[in-house]
Amino acid sequence: MKVAIITGATSGLGWEAAVQIDERFKSLDEIWIIGRREDKLLELSACLAHSTRSFTMDVTDAQDRKEFCEALKKYRPNIRMLFQSAGKGLHGDFDKMKIEDETEMLRLNCEALLEMTHLCLPYMRKNSHIIHIASMAAFLPFPGYSVYGASKAFVLNFSRALRAELRKRKIHVMAVCPGPVNTPFFDVSERYTNGLSAFKKKFMNTPEKVIKKALNDAGSHRAVSVDNCIMRFCYFLSRVLSHDFIAGLLRFLRT
Ligand SMILES: NC(=O)c1ccc[n+]([C@@H]2O[C@H](COP(=O)([O-])OP(=O)(O)OC[C@H]3O[C@@H](n4cnc5c(N)ncnc54)[C@H](OP(=O)(O)O)[C@@H]3O)[C@@H](O)[C@H]2O)c1
Repeated sequence: MKVAIITGATSGLGWEAAVQIDERFKSLDEIWIIGRREDKLLELSACLAHSTRSFTMDVTDAQDRKEFCEALKKYRPNIRMLFQSAGKGLHGDFDKMKIEDETEMLRLNCEALLEMTHLCLPYMRKNSHIIHIASMAAFLPFPGYSVYGASKAFVLNFSRALRAELRKRKIHVMAVCPGPVNTPFFDVSERYTNGLSAFKKKFMNTPEKVIKKALNDAGSHRAVSVDNCIMRFCYFLSRVLSHDFIAGLLRFLRT
């Protein structure tokens, strides 16, 4: 049974990934969708042409992951694509945020992503894909997003190293590094601030474009998918300028 597994499918980029994977990959037998909100999983399932299997689970919860592992053992799927979008951000100064909020974010963005990859890998074969949603915040030290940016740098570097490790098995790993995207992400990320900055409003992309580009890039076996030319320019700057200088500039611009 050929399946695609999508975490964070109840909203934003994960939802859009489910919709586009459904349209593109007709040879899949099932799409497995994961999120905590059962009503949203049902709503998404009704929008998709493929058969779906919904997992109402918190990916940070060890017991929920154990149950997911049991489902893998039971159905023994041939996982053609693992698309990990579950994640969240927090914007604000580190010393003004609750440490529990930051550590919870790390568990979701880093630990849960690792655990899910580890659970799924035994069911992946030649020419399958792992796609992880990182962020452009992964490229640089990002004042105001110090912990979020570091968590996404982890996702980016983990994905790149895993890509090299899995090359022999012909499993293709890619990190998606979007700039700001118009999703409910900001309802959570801006809860320590007074709302979206002018920078984010100006450069906001749509989930449709980010996912279309990501799936095209995965088809071309790219290591990293960057959604538009402005973000590609930022990526370039992050490689040639001093990170101290960039961090100072970002602080000044209050992005
Ligand atoms: N939007 C942006 O500007 C932007 C930019 C760069 C990178 N990203 C990254 O893109 C990814 C998707 O974000 P988005 O923009 O699509 O935001 P979103 O609309 O808020 O979606 C976040 C998804 O993560 C799921 N999730 C959160 N906590 C979870 C948990 N403990 N267990 C299981 N699922 C959980 C949510 O589902 P439930 O609430 O149903 O559990 C939801 O489906 C994130 O990794 C984010 O860091 C976003």
